[in-house]
Formats: sequence, C-alpha cells, structure tokens
Amino acid sequence: MKFQKQFVQSVRLYFKEEGEAWLQELPGIIHYCEQKWSMKMEKPYRLSINYVAPAKLRNGKEIVVKICIPGADFLNELESLRLFKNQGIVNVLDYEIEKGIIILEKLAPGYTLAEIEDDETACYLAAQVVRRLSFPAPRNTRIQTTRAREEVLRDTVNRNEKGYGPLSQHVLVNALSIFAKLNKTIAQYKLLHGDFHHYNVLASEQGNWVAIDPKGLIGEVEYDLIQFLLNRLPDKGVYEVTKKRIEILTNELNLNLERFFLWGYCHAVLATVWTVEGMSYNSCFYRMISIFERLYFEYYGIEIGCYVD
Ligand SMILES: Nc1ncnc2c1ncn2[C@@H]1O[C@H](COP(=O)(O)OP(=O)(O)O)[C@@H](O)[C@H]1O
Ligand SMILES: [Mg+2]
Repeated sequence: MKFQKQFVQSVRLYFKEEGEAWLQELPGIIHYCEQKWSMKMEKPYRLSINYVAPAKLRNGKEIVVKICIPGADFLNELESLRLFKNQGIVNVLDYEIEKGIIILEKLAPGYTLAEIEDDETACYLAAQVVRRLSFPAPRNTRIQTTRAREEVLRDTVNRNEKGYGPLSQHVLVNALSIFAKLNKTIAQYKLLHGDFHHYNVLASEQGNWVAIDPKGLIGEVEYDLIQFLLNRLPDKGVYEVTKKRIEILTNELNLNLERFFLWGYCHAVLATVWTVEGMSYNSCFYRMISIFERLYFEYYGIEIGCYVD
C-alpha cells in the first residue's frame, strides 16, 4: 500500500520509531475497519499526521474514517468531540480506543472556510461556529489548560539562551512573561477547540458550518481564535486584514480586545517555535508577532512588553 509522501515524512518526523511502526500497521488497520464496519474505504484526503479517508457502508451511507496513533492527542480529540457533541462539531458515529479509530459523520459538501473568497464573510462564519462551540470547562478531564502551552514555551526559552530560529531571546522572554501573566488572570475557563482555523471548519448541509479535528484545550476563547488569525493571510496588507478580523470577531463574540492582542503575540511566538521544530519554518507566523506588537501599540500607546511591568 502506497501512502502520500508528505504524510509518511510527517509521521516519521513527529512520532519517530512509534510512527514508523504505526505506518507498517496501517494497511492492517484499514483492512480491519473495512471488515468490522462492513465498509469500503476510498482514497484518503490530503493527509498530515493522521490517516483520514471517506468510506461507504454496505447500506450506501457515506462516512469518514480517521485513524490516529492511539496516544494522548487521539484521546484528547475523542474527548473533545464527545464534550462538544451537537454544538458545532462533527458527529462521532463510533470509535475504537485501542486502535485509534474514529468513525465520523461525513460532512457534505465538505469544503473548508479557506475556500470562502471574502475574508470578512469567513470571519463572520467562524464567529458563528465558535459561538456554538462555547462550552464551560469540564471538571474532570484529561484535557490540559493553556498553562501546558506556556510550559512548552518555557522549555524552549530555557534551552535556547541565545534565541531560537528567527526569534530573539528578548522576544522569547517577553512572550513567556506575558503568557504567564495571562494564564494567571483568566477570568472564565472554557473548553476550547485547540486548533481552530480555516481548514478545520467544513461546510455541512443547509449552509451550516461545522468544526472538525479538535485538539482540546482549556482556557480563554480569545486564545482559541489566534490560530485562525495566523492562517489564510494575503501577501500584502496583513496588518489591515488582521485588524479587520479582530474587529469582527471581538464584536461578534464580545471578546476582550487587549487580551486578544496579548494572546495573539504569545501564540504567534509559540507557533513560530513549532514551525522551527517541524519540517518547514513558517515566516507567516513569525511576521504576525510584529503585527500584534503594532496593534497593541496603536490601541494602548505603550509597548506590548509593558503589560508585564
Ligand atoms: N467529517 C468529515 N467530513 C468530510 N471531510 C472530512 C471530515 N473529517 C475530515 N475531513 C477531511 O479530511 C481532512 C483531514 O481531516 P482532519 O481531521 O483535519 O485531520 P488532521 O488531524 O490530520 O488535520 C480535512 O481537512 C477534511 O478535508
Ligand atoms: Mg485538520
């Protein structure tokens, strides 16, 4: 069985030996799914680190099968899908924990928010989905808070005294201090999607838009929207587009503007760290750091770092 080249490379990079072993097992798991649910699996979608493919049941019903390495990420995704049930998230039809399998309702027509030409329209649609995803933080859960993200950044700062990739030590330390202060001052904890961006929001029937692929996280809604702000940006006019996006999302969802900018700055730094660690350093994320600095200065008349002074 031949898999997409990029998928194989990403699985190896991200999961190392465990990924290699899983890739060997994958044809067997696909066969297992076809037997267990009496279905025929079709050509997979464009893959990153999970195997996702449409499939047809014997009765003709179309579904989607997602096969993941059955570790922490998979369990978090499954738990968030269950917690968000019927609230703007794709429906789970069945699952099998041991083998990392989730059977999902197939969303049709299934194109993503990234295919909406007009950026402002995409923002309004995103706001509608996030409003539906609004859910208080559960008490007993394996899902981590945004403190865990702060710890990832702290680890990078501690291990790289001279900066990391394009990030200077000053920016890393600044972002970490702001991250820590924000985490200490969260007023209302919510269950977050954890990877909310254009490509994880799909068109469903009757003009409904639905989120897929939650990573699960607990924190402030403002934080959950940053990954959306980092995606689908034009080559020119990024500052103006970002400002407009923030204006729409803040008004639609009644967000705290200052904390939105601050989370934006911190997460843009963290997202840059991730891309330096991964296969391709993403200058789009890096460039957003200065956009959040500029926005903060424009609105509050002080440097973003002054927030922690
Ligand atoms: N329920 C679904 N209905 C239709 N298409 C889907 C569904 N779930 C996933 N897809 C398609 O598969 C792609 C990858 O799925 P996703 O869950 O986002 O995987 P990953 O965790 O690798 O990002 C999506 O971008 C989308 O095109
Ligand atoms: Mg995805």
